[in-house]
This record gives sequence, structure tokens and C-alpha cells, in this order.
Amino acid sequence: MKLGVNVDHVATIRQARGVRFPDPVFAASLAELGGAEGIVVHLREDRRHIQERDVRVLRDTVQTRLNLEMAADEETVALAARIKPDLVTLVPERREELTTEGGLNLFSMQDKFKRTIDFFHEKEITVALFLDPDVKQIEVAHALSADIVEIHTGRYANTRVDSKARGVELNQIVESAQLISQSKMGVSAGHGLDYTNVTQIAKISEIAELNIGHSIIARAVLVGIEAAVREMKHRIDHSRMGLSSGTTPSAHRSGSPA
Ligand code: PXP
Repeated sequence: MKLGVNVDHVATIRQARGVRFPDPVFAASLAELGGAEGIVVHLREDRRHIQERDVRVLRDTVQTRLNLEMAADEETVALAARIKPDLVTLVPERREELTTEGGLNLFSMQDKFKRTIDFFHEKEITVALFLDPDVKQIEVAHALSADIVEIHTGRYANTRVDSKARGVELNQIVESAQLISQSKMGVSAGHGLDYTNVTQIAKISEIAELNIGHSIIARAVLVGIEAAVREMKHRIDHSRMGLSSGTTPSAHRSGSPA
């Protein structure tokens, strides 16, 4: 089973300050060093985290596979066709949502999805559709010639451990994965997967790839804090080596920049 790592929330931290770091491009390289078999970014219409520049640079630097999540709007489709990620994942997008809250409703705009999928196929870009574990949506995806269905695992992830609801959600994911596979489409899954709830999903043999973002970036922040603080302490202590206590560095005294 492959792991695609979503680095959106590295960009969320950068955008919170409007500066140049942390750079999701660096994060993507480190994720690949750690074993990620794909890099995922969501270029949202409101550009709240990933920027066009990130996708362009990632296109050049990603060594594995670049998966661009996007809404099927005209402007983003044209941009994706220019940048040419290895894979696009079409997702629903609402400005006011905190994250992608559900799968696509393919019934509402079948013609538009068909045109978009055909267009990407002409450009030799693989197309995944992000769907709830729903048999009817999967059947439409097949009819529209989607290459991959990514199953939205958010509802499963939001249920309580060992609850009846979790069992029900898990069954739907298993049945959906089987149907997608029988329909000769690739099966991936993601959203809300973390270090505890991933195990049941990872056991589903039909699923070829999991796409995970928030829990990995959140874990990286915590496991990295100790080393990051130690490095800053070291730099501060190193700068003061040779100073007798209470002495002001000459650069500071003269007012020149440090
Ligand atoms: N897959 C898709 C299609 C998504 O939209 C997202 C969230 O951007 C993910 C996977 C990753 O979800 P999470 O950040 O909850 O792991």
C-alpha cells in the first residue's frame, strides 16, 4: 500500500505569517526521504494555504508522484493542464468549509465532470474522483471513465472507536473498495486518517494508496519541537561564547544590523 503525504498544512503555517517559511516544497522532499510515495497538495480557490508557485515548483522537484487536489472550475482546470501534475483529484470545494467535508456529488453535474475528465485524459493526466463510500456515486464514476476513486474516510474517522457507527462506516468503505476494484478503477482513500484509526483502513486489500495530511504534519510539529528548541538554544549560546556576562556585543553597541 502506498502513502501519499499531503503538505497543505506546512503552507498553512507559512501563510499565517505571510513569510517564506516553512516551505511546503522542502516538506515534500523530506516526506519523500521518509518514504512517501506521492505528494498531495490542494490548490484551493481562496489560496488559504498552497499557492500556484508551490504547485509549479513541486512539479519540478517531486521525485515520486504529484497529486493535485482541485475543484473542477474552469480556471483551476486550465492551470492544472499547464502544470501537468501526474494525477489530479477532483474534490468539492466550499469557501466557508474548514476542510473538504464530503465527496463529490456526480449526479449534479455529470456533463461537466465528463468534459473535465476527457480533457485531462487528452493531456495524459490521470483523474481521481473524491467520493463518499456510496455505491451509486461509484457507478457514475465508472461511467464517466474516472481512473481512480479516492474514498472519503472522514465519516469513518469522525466516529468513536469501537462504536457501532464505526463498524457501519468501515463496512461501507470495504464494500466501496471492492466495487471500485471490480469496476477496474484504482482505489485510494483518505481524509481524517491518523495514527490510531489508520490500521483498519490499511487492512483493506483493495485500497492501493492512502493520502494523509493533517495528522502527519501535526505529529511532525510535536516530534520536531525538542530538536528545534535545542538548535535555537545552541545558536544563542554560541553567539554569546567569549562574552563576559553583562557585556554588550560591539555590533549591537554601534547600532549596526546583526
Ligand atoms: N484526500 C483528499 C481528497 C483531501 O481533500 C484531503 C484533505 O486535503 C486528504 C486526503 C487528507 O486529509 P487529512 O489532512 O485529513 O489527512
